[in-house]
Amino acid sequence: MICAILLLALVLLSVILTHRRRSKSEPPLDRGLIPWLGHALEFGKDAAKFINRMKQKHGNIFTVRAAGRYVTVLLDPHSYDAVINDSNSLDFTRYAQVLMERIFNLRLPHHQPADAKALMKRHFLGKNLATLNSTMGRHLQVLLKAETPQNQKDWKEEGLFDFSYSLLFKAGYLTLFGGEQNNNSTDPSSVYEEYKKFDGFLTKMARGTLRAEEKKTALSVRERLLELLAPAGLTEDSGSSPWLHHFRRLLQQEGTDEETQRKAVLMQLWASQGNVGPAAFWLLGYLLTNPEALVAVKREFSQIAQMETSETLPMDRTVNTPVFDSALEETLRLTAAPFITREVVQEKTLHMADGQEYLLRKGDRVCLFPFISPQMDPEIYHEPQKYKYDRFLNEDGSVKKDFYKAGRRLKYYTMPWGAGTNGCVGKQFAINTIRQFVYMVLTNYDVELCDLHAQMPEINASRYGFGMLQPEGDLLIRYKPRNTH
Ligand code: HEM
Ligand SMILES: *[C@@H]1O[C@H](CO)[C@@H](O)[C@H](O)[C@H]1NC(C)=O
Ligand SMILES: *[C@@H]1O[C@H](CO)[C@@H](O)[C@H](O)[C@H]1NC(C)=O
Ligand SMILES: *[C@@H]1O[C@H](CO)[C@@H](O)[C@H](O)[C@H]1NC(C)=O
Ligand SMILES: *[C@@H]1O[C@H](CO)[C@@H](O)[C@H](O)[C@H]1NC(C)=O
Ligand SMILES: *[C@@H]1O[C@H](CO)[C@@H](O)[C@H](O)[C@H]1NC(C)=O
Repeated sequence: MICAILLLALVLLSVILTHRRRSKSEPPLDRGLIPWLGHALEFGKDAAKFINRMKQKHGNIFTVRAAGRYVTVLLDPHSYDAVINDSNSLDFTRYAQVLMERIFNLRLPHHQPADAKALMKRHFLGKNLATLNSTMGRHLQVLLKAETPQNQKDWKEEGLFDFSYSLLFKAGYLTLFGGEQNNNSTDPSSVYEEYKKFDGFLTKMARGTLRAEEKKTALSVRERLLELLAPAGLTEDSGSSPWLHHFRRLLQQEGTDEETQRKAVLMQLWASQGNVGPAAFWLLGYLLTNPEALVAVKREFSQIAQMETSETLPMDRTVNTPVFDSALEETLRLTAAPFITREVVQEKTLHMADGQEYLLRKGDRVCLFPFISPQMDPEIYHEPQKYKYDRFLNEDGSVKKDFYKAGRRLKYYTMPWGAGTNGCVGKQFAINTIRQFVYMVLTNYDVELCDLHAQMPEINASRYGFGMLQPEGDLLIRYKPRNTH
Protein backbone atom coordinates (compact mmCIF):
# COMPACT_ATOMS: atom_id res chain seq x y z
CA MET A 1 0.00 0.00 0.00
CA ILE A 2 2.69 2.45 1.01
CA CYS A 3 4.62 1.36 -2.01
CA ALA A 4 1.65 2.08 -4.27
CA ILE A 5 1.20 5.55 -2.80
CA LEU A 6 4.89 6.26 -3.16
CA LEU A 7 4.80 5.09 -6.75
CA LEU A 8 1.79 7.25 -7.51
CA ALA A 9 3.51 10.25 -5.90
CA LEU A 10 6.60 9.60 -8.00
CA VAL A 11 4.58 9.37 -11.21
CA LEU A 12 2.73 12.58 -10.36
CA LEU A 13 5.97 14.31 -9.52
CA SER A 14 7.55 13.23 -12.77
CA VAL A 15 4.47 14.40 -14.68
CA ILE A 16 4.63 17.80 -12.96
CA LEU A 17 8.36 18.12 -13.42
CA THR A 18 8.27 17.22 -17.09
CA HIS A 19 5.10 19.12 -17.75
CA ARG A 20 5.58 21.92 -20.15
CA ARG A 21 3.24 24.43 -21.64
CA ARG A 22 3.55 26.02 -24.98
CA SER A 23 3.97 29.75 -24.94
CA LYS A 24 2.32 31.73 -27.72
CA SER A 25 5.61 32.48 -29.42
CA GLU A 26 6.63 28.81 -29.61
CA PRO A 27 5.84 26.19 -32.26
CA PRO A 28 2.77 23.94 -31.67
CA LEU A 29 3.60 21.44 -28.92
CA ASP A 30 2.59 17.76 -29.09
CA ARG A 31 3.58 15.88 -25.98
CA GLY A 32 1.95 12.56 -26.76
CA LEU A 33 0.03 10.56 -24.17
CA ILE A 34 2.74 8.61 -22.39
CA PRO A 35 4.57 10.54 -19.65
CA TRP A 36 8.25 11.22 -20.36
CA LEU A 37 8.39 8.81 -23.35
CA GLY A 38 5.96 10.95 -25.31
CA HIS A 39 6.05 9.93 -28.98
CA ALA A 40 9.33 7.98 -28.76
CA LEU A 41 7.85 4.61 -29.76
CA GLU A 42 6.00 5.84 -32.83
CA PHE A 43 8.99 7.99 -33.78
CA GLY A 44 11.36 5.03 -33.65
CA LYS A 45 9.09 2.62 -35.48
CA ASP A 46 8.66 4.70 -38.63
CA ALA A 47 9.85 8.29 -38.31
CA ALA A 48 8.66 9.26 -41.80
CA LYS A 49 5.12 8.11 -41.09
CA PHE A 50 5.07 9.78 -37.69
CA ILE A 51 6.44 13.11 -38.93
CA ASN A 52 3.96 13.08 -41.82
CA ARG A 53 1.14 12.57 -39.35
CA MET A 54 2.36 15.49 -37.23
CA LYS A 55 2.71 17.61 -40.36
CA GLN A 56 -0.94 16.96 -41.24
CA LYS A 57 -1.91 17.97 -37.74
CA HIS A 58 0.34 20.97 -37.08
CA GLY A 59 1.92 22.15 -40.33
CA ASN A 60 5.55 22.79 -41.20
CA ILE A 61 6.87 23.34 -37.69
CA PHE A 62 6.02 21.65 -34.40
CA THR A 63 7.63 20.41 -31.21
CA VAL A 64 7.25 16.81 -30.06
CA ARG A 65 8.36 15.08 -26.90
CA ALA A 66 10.40 11.92 -27.29
CA ALA A 67 12.10 10.14 -24.40
CA GLY A 68 12.24 13.20 -22.18
CA ARG A 69 13.58 15.50 -24.90
CA TYR A 70 11.72 18.13 -26.84
CA VAL A 71 12.43 18.12 -30.54
CA THR A 72 11.28 20.87 -32.88
CA VAL A 73 10.79 19.50 -36.37
CA LEU A 74 11.03 21.97 -39.26
CA LEU A 75 9.77 20.90 -42.68
CA ASP A 76 9.76 24.05 -44.82
CA PRO A 77 12.82 23.88 -47.09
CA HIS A 78 12.64 27.63 -47.73
CA SER A 79 13.39 28.08 -44.03
CA TYR A 80 16.20 25.52 -43.67
CA ASP A 81 18.94 28.12 -44.02
CA ALA A 82 17.84 29.75 -40.79
CA VAL A 83 18.86 26.52 -39.01
CA ILE A 84 21.84 25.53 -41.10
CA ASN A 85 23.40 29.01 -41.03
CA ASP A 86 23.27 29.56 -37.30
CA SER A 87 25.90 27.25 -35.86
CA ASN A 88 26.27 29.57 -32.85
CA SER A 89 22.80 29.02 -31.39
CA LEU A 90 22.28 25.62 -33.01
CA ASP A 91 25.14 23.29 -32.21
CA PHE A 92 26.08 20.22 -34.25
CA THR A 93 28.66 18.75 -31.88
CA ARG A 94 26.62 18.09 -28.75
CA TYR A 95 24.12 15.74 -30.30
CA ALA A 96 26.94 14.08 -32.26
CA GLN A 97 28.64 13.47 -28.91
CA VAL A 98 25.49 11.90 -27.48
CA LEU A 99 25.39 9.47 -30.42
CA MET A 100 29.12 8.77 -30.15
CA GLU A 101 28.65 7.78 -26.55
CA ARG A 102 25.60 5.63 -27.17
CA ILE A 103 26.88 3.80 -30.22
CA PHE A 104 30.63 3.63 -29.66
CA ASN A 105 30.89 4.26 -25.92
CA LEU A 106 33.28 6.98 -27.04
CA ARG A 107 34.13 10.11 -25.06
CA LEU A 108 36.81 12.47 -26.27
CA PRO A 109 37.05 15.18 -23.60
CA HIS A 110 40.08 16.96 -25.04
CA HIS A 111 39.07 16.53 -28.64
CA GLN A 112 39.01 19.50 -30.98
CA PRO A 113 36.40 18.63 -33.61
CA ALA A 114 37.61 21.56 -35.71
CA ASP A 115 41.10 20.03 -36.00
CA ALA A 116 39.75 16.62 -37.02
CA LYS A 117 37.49 18.33 -39.55
CA ALA A 118 40.35 20.36 -41.03
CA LEU A 119 42.38 17.16 -41.31
CA MET A 120 39.54 15.48 -43.11
CA LYS A 121 39.12 18.35 -45.55
CA ARG A 122 42.82 18.24 -46.31
CA HIS A 123 42.60 14.57 -47.22
CA PHE A 124 39.18 14.28 -48.84
CA LEU A 125 39.15 17.41 -50.96
CA GLY A 126 41.48 18.88 -53.58
CA LYS A 127 44.74 17.32 -54.64
CA ASN A 128 44.70 14.40 -52.18
CA LEU A 129 41.30 13.33 -53.40
CA ALA A 130 42.83 12.25 -56.70
CA THR A 131 45.03 9.72 -54.87
CA LEU A 132 42.06 8.38 -52.95
CA ASN A 133 39.98 8.22 -56.12
CA SER A 134 42.53 6.06 -57.87
CA THR A 135 43.39 3.84 -54.88
CA MET A 136 39.70 3.17 -54.48
CA GLY A 137 39.39 2.35 -58.18
CA ARG A 138 42.22 -0.16 -57.94
CA HIS A 139 40.74 -1.96 -54.94
CA LEU A 140 37.31 -2.07 -56.54
CA GLN A 141 38.72 -3.63 -59.67
CA VAL A 142 40.70 -6.30 -57.81
CA LEU A 143 37.81 -7.22 -55.52
CA LEU A 144 35.29 -7.35 -58.34
CA LYS A 145 37.57 -9.66 -60.34
CA ALA A 146 38.25 -11.90 -57.35
CA GLU A 147 34.62 -12.39 -56.46
CA THR A 148 33.06 -12.89 -59.85
CA PRO A 149 33.07 -15.89 -62.15
CA GLN A 150 36.04 -16.02 -64.50
CA ASN A 151 34.35 -17.61 -67.47
CA GLN A 152 31.68 -16.09 -69.62
CA LYS A 153 29.19 -18.93 -69.47
CA ASP A 154 28.31 -19.20 -65.80
CA TRP A 155 25.99 -16.69 -64.24
CA LYS A 156 26.54 -15.93 -60.59
CA GLU A 157 23.40 -15.24 -58.54
CA GLU A 158 23.48 -12.87 -55.60
CA GLY A 159 21.41 -10.37 -53.66
CA LEU A 160 22.17 -6.91 -55.04
CA PHE A 161 22.29 -5.30 -51.59
CA ASP A 162 24.84 -7.83 -50.30
CA PHE A 163 26.84 -7.57 -53.50
CA SER A 164 27.03 -3.75 -53.43
CA TYR A 165 27.48 -3.28 -49.70
CA SER A 166 30.18 -5.95 -49.30
CA LEU A 167 32.19 -4.85 -52.32
CA LEU A 168 32.14 -1.15 -51.49
CA PHE A 169 32.74 -1.75 -47.81
CA LYS A 170 35.78 -3.92 -48.46
CA ALA A 171 37.22 -1.55 -51.06
CA GLY A 172 36.64 1.43 -48.77
CA TYR A 173 38.12 -0.42 -45.83
CA LEU A 174 41.26 -1.29 -47.79
CA THR A 175 41.59 2.25 -49.12
CA LEU A 176 41.23 4.08 -45.82
CA PHE A 177 41.93 1.59 -43.02
CA GLY A 178 44.43 -0.69 -44.70
CA GLY A 179 45.10 -4.18 -43.51
CA GLU A 180 46.82 -7.05 -45.22
CA GLN A 181 44.40 -8.96 -47.36
CA ASN A 182 45.84 -12.33 -46.37
CA ASN A 183 46.14 -11.75 -42.65
CA ASN A 184 43.11 -13.37 -41.12
CA SER A 185 42.70 -10.90 -38.34
CA THR A 186 42.39 -7.88 -40.61
CA ASP A 187 40.86 -9.57 -43.62
CA PRO A 188 38.31 -7.11 -45.03
CA SER A 189 35.71 -9.87 -45.33
CA SER A 190 35.75 -10.56 -41.61
CA VAL A 191 35.57 -6.84 -40.86
CA TYR A 192 32.57 -6.62 -43.18
CA GLU A 193 30.84 -9.60 -41.57
CA GLU A 194 31.21 -8.09 -38.12
CA TYR A 195 30.28 -4.63 -39.34
CA LYS A 196 27.05 -5.90 -40.89
CA LYS A 197 26.01 -7.35 -37.53
CA PHE A 198 26.91 -4.11 -35.80
CA ASP A 199 24.98 -2.13 -38.42
CA GLY A 200 21.85 -4.08 -37.53
CA PHE A 201 22.03 -2.83 -33.95
CA LEU A 202 22.92 0.79 -34.77
CA THR A 203 19.50 2.39 -34.70
CA LYS A 204 18.60 0.70 -31.45
CA MET A 205 21.91 1.67 -29.90
CA ALA A 206 21.38 5.28 -30.96
CA ARG A 207 17.93 5.28 -29.36
CA GLY A 208 19.02 3.26 -26.34
CA THR A 209 16.35 0.62 -26.95
CA LEU A 210 18.39 -2.61 -27.12
CA ARG A 211 16.88 -5.47 -25.16
CA ALA A 212 19.17 -7.17 -22.63
CA GLU A 213 20.20 -10.11 -24.80
CA GLU A 214 20.58 -7.92 -27.89
CA LYS A 215 22.81 -5.64 -25.88
CA LYS A 216 25.09 -8.53 -24.99
CA THR A 217 25.49 -9.51 -28.63
CA ALA A 218 25.90 -5.90 -29.78
CA LEU A 219 28.66 -5.25 -27.25
CA SER A 220 30.55 -8.40 -28.16
CA VAL A 221 30.34 -7.56 -31.88
CA ARG A 222 31.66 -4.10 -31.09
CA GLU A 223 34.54 -5.60 -29.07
CA ARG A 224 35.43 -7.85 -31.98
CA LEU A 225 35.41 -4.90 -34.38
CA LEU A 226 37.64 -2.90 -32.06
CA GLU A 227 40.12 -5.79 -32.05
CA LEU A 228 40.07 -5.99 -35.84
CA LEU A 229 40.69 -2.26 -36.10
CA ALA A 230 43.51 -2.23 -33.55
CA PRO A 231 46.35 -1.96 -36.09
CA ALA A 232 44.56 0.48 -38.44
CA GLY A 233 46.46 3.72 -38.82
CA LEU A 234 48.73 2.96 -35.89
CA THR A 235 51.97 3.05 -37.82
CA GLU A 236 52.87 4.71 -41.06
CA ASP A 237 53.29 1.30 -42.74
CA SER A 238 50.04 -0.19 -41.44
CA GLY A 239 48.73 -0.01 -44.99
CA SER A 240 46.09 2.54 -44.09
CA SER A 241 45.60 5.96 -45.66
CA PRO A 242 47.70 8.94 -44.57
CA TRP A 243 44.45 10.47 -43.28
CA LEU A 244 43.88 7.72 -40.73
CA HIS A 245 47.47 7.80 -39.59
CA HIS A 246 47.25 11.57 -39.07
CA PHE A 247 43.94 11.14 -37.29
CA ARG A 248 45.56 8.69 -34.88
CA ARG A 249 48.42 11.12 -34.31
CA LEU A 250 45.97 13.92 -33.60
CA LEU A 251 44.22 11.78 -31.00
CA GLN A 252 47.57 10.86 -29.45
CA GLN A 253 48.55 14.52 -29.24
CA GLU A 254 45.27 15.19 -27.46
CA GLY A 255 46.26 12.58 -24.87
CA THR A 256 43.78 9.91 -25.96
CA ASP A 257 44.60 6.37 -24.81
CA GLU A 258 44.80 3.54 -27.30
CA GLU A 259 41.49 1.92 -26.42
CA THR A 260 39.67 5.19 -26.98
CA GLN A 261 41.56 5.71 -30.24
CA ARG A 262 40.19 2.40 -31.51
CA LYS A 263 36.66 3.48 -30.72
CA ALA A 264 37.26 6.68 -32.63
CA VAL A 265 38.57 4.65 -35.57
CA LEU A 266 35.42 2.51 -35.46
CA MET A 267 33.34 5.68 -35.54
CA GLN A 268 35.23 6.76 -38.67
CA LEU A 269 34.58 3.35 -40.21
CA TRP A 270 30.88 3.92 -39.68
CA ALA A 271 30.92 7.50 -41.01
CA SER A 272 32.90 6.54 -44.12
CA GLN A 273 31.43 3.12 -44.99
CA GLY A 274 27.87 3.05 -43.69
CA ASN A 275 26.19 4.94 -46.53
CA VAL A 276 28.14 4.32 -49.73
CA GLY A 277 27.21 0.64 -50.23
CA PRO A 278 23.49 1.15 -49.59
CA ALA A 279 23.47 4.15 -51.97
CA ALA A 280 25.10 2.09 -54.73
CA PHE A 281 22.56 -0.67 -54.13
CA TRP A 282 19.58 1.65 -54.63
CA LEU A 283 21.11 3.18 -57.74
CA LEU A 284 21.87 -0.15 -59.44
CA GLY A 285 18.47 -1.45 -58.33
CA TYR A 286 16.60 1.49 -59.85
CA LEU A 287 18.60 1.15 -63.06
CA LEU A 288 17.89 -2.56 -63.35
CA THR A 289 14.17 -2.08 -62.71
CA ASN A 290 13.93 0.89 -65.12
CA PRO A 291 15.26 -0.32 -68.50
CA GLU A 292 15.07 3.14 -70.07
CA ALA A 293 17.30 4.55 -67.32
CA LEU A 294 19.74 1.66 -67.65
CA VAL A 295 20.05 2.21 -71.40
CA ALA A 296 20.68 5.94 -70.94
CA VAL A 297 23.39 5.47 -68.31
CA LYS A 298 25.06 2.67 -70.30
CA ARG A 299 25.03 4.83 -73.41
CA GLU A 300 26.80 7.64 -71.55
CA PHE A 301 29.36 5.22 -70.12
CA SER A 302 30.06 3.60 -73.49
CA GLN A 303 30.83 7.01 -74.97
CA ILE A 304 33.48 7.42 -72.27
CA ALA A 305 34.71 3.87 -72.76
CA GLN A 306 35.27 4.49 -76.46
CA MET A 307 37.79 7.16 -75.55
CA GLU A 308 39.48 4.95 -72.97
CA THR A 309 41.34 1.70 -73.13
CA SER A 310 41.26 0.78 -69.44
CA GLU A 311 38.42 -0.92 -67.55
CA THR A 312 38.23 1.83 -64.96
CA LEU A 313 37.09 5.38 -65.26
CA PRO A 314 39.94 7.82 -65.75
CA MET A 315 39.89 9.56 -62.40
CA ASP A 316 42.85 11.86 -62.79
CA ARG A 317 40.76 13.93 -65.16
CA THR A 318 37.27 15.20 -64.70
CA VAL A 319 34.78 13.22 -66.74
CA ASN A 320 31.39 14.71 -67.35
CA THR A 321 28.55 12.30 -66.65
CA PRO A 322 25.35 14.37 -66.45
CA VAL A 323 23.04 11.37 -67.05
CA PHE A 324 24.71 9.33 -64.34
CA ASP A 325 24.69 12.34 -62.00
CA SER A 326 20.96 12.81 -62.50
CA ALA A 327 20.28 9.09 -62.00
CA LEU A 328 22.25 9.22 -58.74
CA GLU A 329 20.61 12.42 -57.52
CA GLU A 330 17.21 10.87 -58.18
CA THR A 331 18.25 7.75 -56.27
CA LEU A 332 19.35 9.80 -53.28
CA ARG A 333 16.16 11.86 -53.41
CA LEU A 334 14.21 8.64 -52.82
CA THR A 335 16.51 6.86 -50.37
CA ALA A 336 18.64 9.35 -48.40
CA ALA A 337 16.77 10.16 -45.22
CA PRO A 338 19.07 11.73 -42.63
CA PHE A 339 17.86 13.89 -39.79
CA ILE A 340 19.77 17.12 -39.64
CA THR A 341 19.80 17.55 -35.87
CA ARG A 342 21.10 20.53 -33.89
CA GLU A 343 20.96 21.34 -30.19
CA VAL A 344 19.66 24.77 -29.16
CA VAL A 345 22.49 26.12 -26.98
CA GLN A 346 21.01 29.60 -26.59
CA GLU A 347 17.45 30.77 -26.99
CA LYS A 348 16.77 31.69 -30.60
CA THR A 349 14.02 33.27 -32.64
CA LEU A 350 13.55 31.28 -35.82
CA HIS A 351 12.48 33.42 -38.77
CA MET A 352 10.47 31.36 -41.22
CA ALA A 353 10.39 32.19 -44.91
CA ASP A 354 6.65 32.92 -44.69
CA GLY A 355 7.28 35.68 -42.15
CA GLN A 356 6.27 33.71 -39.04
CA GLU A 357 8.58 33.77 -36.04
CA TYR A 358 9.03 31.08 -33.41
CA LEU A 359 10.98 30.94 -30.21
CA LEU A 360 13.30 27.95 -29.76
CA ARG A 361 14.06 26.97 -26.18
CA LYS A 362 17.58 26.38 -24.93
CA GLY A 363 18.16 22.67 -24.35
CA ASP A 364 15.68 21.54 -27.03
CA ARG A 365 16.73 19.97 -30.30
CA VAL A 366 15.90 21.14 -33.78
CA CYS A 367 15.53 18.59 -36.50
CA LEU A 368 15.21 19.02 -40.27
CA PHE A 369 13.90 16.07 -42.23
CA PRO A 370 14.55 16.88 -45.90
CA PHE A 371 13.25 13.47 -46.95
CA ILE A 372 9.67 14.68 -46.48
CA SER A 373 10.31 18.08 -47.95
CA PRO A 374 11.88 18.86 -50.37
CA GLN A 375 12.67 15.30 -51.45
CA MET A 376 9.23 13.63 -51.39
CA ASP A 377 7.16 16.80 -51.66
CA PRO A 378 4.53 16.49 -54.45
CA GLU A 379 4.48 20.27 -54.78
CA ILE A 380 8.13 20.12 -55.88
CA TYR A 381 8.34 16.76 -57.63
CA HIS A 382 5.57 15.40 -59.83
CA GLU A 383 4.82 11.80 -58.76
CA PRO A 384 7.47 11.87 -56.03
CA GLN A 385 7.29 8.10 -55.39
CA LYS A 386 8.44 7.35 -58.93
CA TYR A 387 12.01 6.90 -60.07
CA LYS A 388 12.70 9.19 -63.04
CA TYR A 389 16.36 9.05 -63.94
CA ASP A 390 16.26 12.32 -65.92
CA ARG A 391 14.53 14.47 -63.30
CA PHE A 392 17.71 16.46 -62.81
CA LEU A 393 18.36 17.06 -66.51
CA ASN A 394 17.13 19.90 -68.69
CA GLU A 395 15.79 19.31 -72.20
CA ASP A 396 19.22 20.20 -73.61
CA GLY A 397 20.95 17.62 -71.41
CA SER A 398 22.43 20.13 -68.96
CA VAL A 399 22.05 19.82 -65.18
CA LYS A 400 18.65 20.95 -63.91
CA LYS A 401 18.80 23.07 -60.77
CA ASP A 402 15.51 24.92 -60.87
CA PHE A 403 12.87 23.54 -58.58
CA TYR A 404 10.05 25.53 -57.04
CA LYS A 405 7.83 25.49 -53.99
CA ALA A 406 5.14 28.09 -53.33
CA GLY A 407 6.26 29.87 -56.50
CA ARG A 408 9.78 30.46 -55.21
CA ARG A 409 12.94 28.77 -56.44
CA LEU A 410 14.45 26.41 -53.88
CA LYS A 411 18.03 26.66 -52.66
CA TYR A 412 17.78 23.11 -51.25
CA TYR A 413 15.85 20.76 -53.54
CA THR A 414 17.55 17.61 -52.22
CA MET A 415 19.75 17.25 -49.14
CA PRO A 416 21.34 13.80 -49.04
CA TRP A 417 24.64 15.26 -47.83
CA GLY A 418 23.34 17.77 -45.31
CA ALA A 419 24.46 21.34 -45.97
CA GLY A 420 26.51 24.23 -44.65
CA THR A 421 29.54 23.93 -42.38
CA ASN A 422 28.50 20.48 -41.19
CA GLY A 423 27.67 19.08 -44.59
CA CYS A 424 29.32 15.84 -45.67
CA VAL A 425 33.09 16.08 -46.05
CA GLY A 426 33.23 12.80 -47.96
CA LYS A 427 30.71 13.78 -50.64
CA GLN A 428 33.10 14.01 -53.61
CA PHE A 429 34.86 10.80 -52.61
CA ALA A 430 31.56 8.99 -52.14
CA ILE A 431 30.17 10.13 -55.50
CA ASN A 432 33.34 9.13 -57.23
CA THR A 433 33.35 5.71 -55.56
CA ILE A 434 29.77 4.98 -56.55
CA ARG A 435 30.41 6.18 -60.10
CA GLN A 436 33.48 3.97 -60.52
CA PHE A 437 31.65 0.97 -59.09
CA VAL A 438 28.60 1.36 -61.31
CA TYR A 439 30.83 2.01 -64.33
CA MET A 440 32.86 -1.15 -63.75
CA VAL A 441 29.81 -3.32 -63.15
CA LEU A 442 27.87 -2.05 -66.16
CA THR A 443 30.74 -1.97 -68.66
CA ASN A 444 32.55 -5.18 -67.73
CA TYR A 445 29.65 -7.42 -66.80
CA ASP A 446 26.31 -8.58 -68.06
CA VAL A 447 23.93 -7.95 -65.17
CA GLU A 448 20.24 -8.73 -65.01
CA LEU A 449 17.42 -9.36 -62.58
CA CYS A 450 16.82 -13.04 -61.81
CA ASP A 451 13.12 -12.33 -62.04
CA LEU A 452 12.63 -9.92 -64.93
CA HIS A 453 9.47 -8.55 -63.33
CA ALA A 454 10.96 -8.05 -59.87
CA GLN A 455 10.15 -4.79 -58.11
CA MET A 456 12.40 -2.85 -55.76
CA PRO A 457 12.22 -4.23 -52.22
CA GLU A 458 10.41 -2.27 -49.50
CA ILE A 459 12.22 0.22 -47.30
CA ASN A 460 13.13 -0.80 -43.75
CA ALA A 461 11.12 1.84 -41.90
CA SER A 462 13.14 1.63 -38.70
CA ARG A 463 16.09 3.38 -40.38
CA TYR A 464 14.46 6.69 -41.25
CA GLY A 465 16.67 9.42 -39.81
CA PHE A 466 19.93 7.44 -39.99
CA GLY A 467 21.30 8.45 -43.38
CA MET A 468 20.87 6.08 -46.31
CA LEU A 469 17.87 3.80 -46.05
CA GLN A 470 18.21 0.05 -46.38
CA PRO A 471 15.86 -2.47 -47.99
CA GLU A 472 13.77 -5.12 -46.32
CA GLY A 473 14.89 -8.21 -48.14
CA ASP A 474 16.97 -7.99 -51.29
CA LEU A 475 16.80 -7.88 -55.09
CA LEU A 476 18.21 -11.02 -56.71
CA ILE A 477 20.54 -10.43 -59.65
CA ARG A 478 22.77 -12.59 -61.81
CA TYR A 479 25.94 -11.50 -63.55
CA LYS A 480 28.90 -12.74 -65.57
CA PRO A 481 31.87 -11.15 -67.30
CA ARG A 482 30.85 -9.49 -70.53
CA ASN A 483 31.94 -10.88 -73.82
CA THR A 484 34.01 -7.95 -75.07
CA HIS A 485 34.31 -8.98 -78.70
C1 HEM B 1 26.48 8.06 -49.94
C2 HEM B 1 27.36 8.36 -49.03
C3 HEM B 1 27.21 9.39 -47.93
C4 HEM B 1 26.08 10.06 -47.50
C5 HEM B 1 24.65 9.94 -48.03
C6 HEM B 1 26.52 10.95 -46.43
C7 HEM B 1 25.68 11.83 -45.73
C8 HEM B 1 26.09 12.73 -44.77
C9 HEM B 1 25.23 13.71 -44.12
C10 HEM B 1 23.74 13.89 -44.37
C11 HEM B 1 25.98 14.42 -43.25
C12 HEM B 1 25.55 15.64 -42.43
C13 HEM B 1 25.02 15.36 -41.05
C14 HEM B 1 24.47 16.62 -40.42
O1 HEM B 1 24.50 17.71 -40.99
O2 HEM B 1 23.96 16.50 -39.30
C15 HEM B 1 27.33 13.88 -43.33
C16 HEM B 1 28.38 14.32 -42.57
C17 HEM B 1 29.64 13.77 -42.60
N1 HEM B 1 30.10 12.81 -43.51
FE1 HEM B 1 29.00 11.88 -44.93
N2 HEM B 1 27.87 10.79 -46.23
C18 HEM B 1 28.32 9.85 -47.12
C19 HEM B 1 29.62 9.39 -47.26
C20 HEM B 1 30.68 9.82 -46.49
C21 HEM B 1 32.04 9.38 -46.65
C22 HEM B 1 32.55 8.41 -47.71
C23 HEM B 1 32.76 10.01 -45.67
C24 HEM B 1 34.24 9.95 -45.35
C25 HEM B 1 35.16 9.62 -46.12
C26 HEM B 1 31.86 10.85 -44.92
C27 HEM B 1 32.24 11.64 -43.85
C28 HEM B 1 31.40 12.54 -43.20
C29 HEM B 1 31.81 13.34 -42.05
C30 HEM B 1 33.17 13.34 -41.37
C31 HEM B 1 30.70 14.13 -41.67
C32 HEM B 1 30.60 15.12 -40.51
C33 HEM B 1 30.88 16.52 -40.91
C34 HEM B 1 31.07 17.40 -39.70
O3 HEM B 1 31.65 16.95 -38.71
O4 HEM B 1 30.68 18.56 -39.76
N3 HEM B 1 30.61 10.72 -45.45
N4 HEM B 1 27.37 12.87 -44.28
C1 LIG C 1 22.85 32.00 -44.91
O1 LIG C 1 24.19 32.23 -45.30
C2 LIG C 1 24.36 32.43 -46.69
C3 LIG C 1 25.83 32.56 -47.00
O2 LIG C 1 26.63 32.49 -45.87
C4 LIG C 1 23.60 33.68 -47.11
O3 LIG C 1 23.71 33.84 -48.50
C5 LIG C 1 22.12 33.53 -46.75
O4 LIG C 1 21.42 34.70 -47.03
C6 LIG C 1 21.97 33.17 -45.28
N1 LIG C 1 20.57 32.87 -45.06
C7 LIG C 1 19.91 33.13 -43.94
C8 LIG C 1 18.47 32.75 -43.91
O5 LIG C 1 20.43 33.64 -42.97
C1 LIG D 1 37.44 12.49 -57.63
O1 LIG D 1 36.07 12.20 -57.93
C2 LIG D 1 35.14 13.27 -57.73
C3 LIG D 1 33.77 12.77 -57.99
O2 LIG D 1 33.64 12.15 -59.23
C4 LIG D 1 35.48 14.44 -58.65
O3 LIG D 1 34.58 15.52 -58.38
C5 LIG D 1 36.88 14.86 -58.36
O4 LIG D 1 37.22 15.86 -59.30
C6 LIG D 1 37.87 13.70 -58.45
N1 LIG D 1 39.10 14.22 -57.97
C7 LIG D 1 40.18 14.26 -58.68
C8 LIG D 1 41.27 15.10 -58.12
O5 LIG D 1 40.31 13.65 -59.71
C1 LIG E 1 48.33 -9.78 -38.58
O1 LIG E 1 47.74 -8.75 -37.82
C2 LIG E 1 48.13 -8.74 -36.46
C3 LIG E 1 47.39 -7.59 -35.77
O2 LIG E 1 46.05 -7.85 -35.68
C4 LIG E 1 49.62 -8.56 -36.34
O3 LIG E 1 49.99 -8.64 -34.98
C5 LIG E 1 50.32 -9.65 -37.12
O4 LIG E 1 51.72 -9.40 -37.10
C6 LIG E 1 49.85 -9.68 -38.56
N1 LIG E 1 50.44 -10.81 -39.24
C7 LIG E 1 50.98 -10.72 -40.44
C8 LIG E 1 51.52 -11.99 -41.03
O5 LIG E 1 51.05 -9.68 -41.08
C1 LIG F 1 43.22 -18.17 -41.50
O1 LIG F 1 42.42 -18.96 -40.67
C2 LIG F 1 42.08 -20.24 -41.17
C3 LIG F 1 41.17 -20.96 -40.19
O2 LIG F 1 40.49 -20.07 -39.40
C4 LIG F 1 43.37 -21.04 -41.43
O3 LIG F 1 43.03 -22.28 -42.01
C5 LIG F 1 44.29 -20.26 -42.34
O4 LIG F 1 45.51 -20.94 -42.48
C6 LIG F 1 44.54 -18.87 -41.80
N1 LIG F 1 45.32 -18.07 -42.76
C7 LIG F 1 46.26 -17.19 -42.42
C8 LIG F 1 46.93 -16.49 -43.54
O5 LIG F 1 46.59 -17.00 -41.27
C1 LIG G 1 15.33 -3.37 -40.24
O1 LIG G 1 16.42 -2.67 -39.66
C2 LIG G 1 16.67 -2.98 -38.31
C3 LIG G 1 17.77 -2.06 -37.83
O2 LIG G 1 18.88 -2.07 -38.67
C4 LIG G 1 17.04 -4.45 -38.18
O3 LIG G 1 17.26 -4.78 -36.84
C5 LIG G 1 15.91 -5.30 -38.77
O4 LIG G 1 16.28 -6.65 -38.75
C6 LIG G 1 15.59 -4.88 -40.19
N1 LIG G 1 14.42 -5.59 -40.66
C7 LIG G 1 14.40 -6.27 -41.81
C8 LIG G 1 13.12 -6.95 -42.11
O5 LIG G 1 15.36 -6.33 -42.56
